[in-house]
Amino acid sequence: MNFSFLARYWPFYLNGAKNTILLAMFSVVLGTAIGLILSLMKLSKHRVPRFIATAYIEFIRGTPLLVQLFIIYYGLQSIGIRFPNVVWLSKLLGISFSDFMAGIVTLGINSGAYVGEIFRAGIQAVDKGQTEAARSLGMSQFMTMRYIVIPQAIRNILPALGNEFVVVIKESSIVSIIGIADLMYRADTVRGNTFQPFEPLIVAAVLYFLMTFPLSKLLAYIERRMRAGDK
Ligand code: ARG
Repeated sequence: MNFSFLARYWPFYLNGAKNTILLAMFSVVLGTAIGLILSLMKLSKHRVPRFIATAYIEFIRGTPLLVQLFIIYYGLQSIGIRFPNVVWLSKLLGISFSDFMAGIVTLGINSGAYVGEIFRAGIQAVDKGQTEAARSLGMSQFMTMRYIVIPQAIRNILPALGNEFVVVIKESSIVSIIGIADLMYRADTVRGNTFQPFEPLIVAAVLYFLMTFPLSKLLAYIERRMRAGDK
């Protein structure tokens, strides 16, 4: 094992890690917004929004992320649609923003399907008796949701949502395929430059782990704190 390349390449790795974190953060925000809408559609009384949300979720979860990425990146380009290149952001990130955007949009669309189910399951897991009790006390449907159901649903949702963040950080490595300079892409470049097939990737794995492990520890902590009130 020879890690001497790190002396030269560590800023390169750090930049990749920064891009990975940015990518994951934007994607999770987009995914959460999409997921929220999908869950509301799924819980709707009407058939049409329910059907649309179900179709979206099943289709996105039933097709590979890589295929979705290629459809959005190459497919949209081939019909003349490109994401705008925001110059100052490109400069700030040191990468092509329009490519970066394709990555965010794909990961966001993908994650949204999973988040939608997280929200829906979290809300439905709140016992029906809670709603019935609130309603029989004279609370309106909105008040019941706002003061009784949602606060309890949050305890189901938050850990799963955090877990989704961990998943997105890891899955984001796939965007290296379309040339977004994330951590995986950087590691691959170092691998090519140094002719070392092994160590540069180990470094990437360790850096990914350093991102996900504290996050899951934090999640476990929050989960414990939320359960503390149960006893
Ligand atoms: N690796 C999976 C695929 O190729 C993507 C899973 C994404 N999961 C998620 N929770 N966002 O389809």
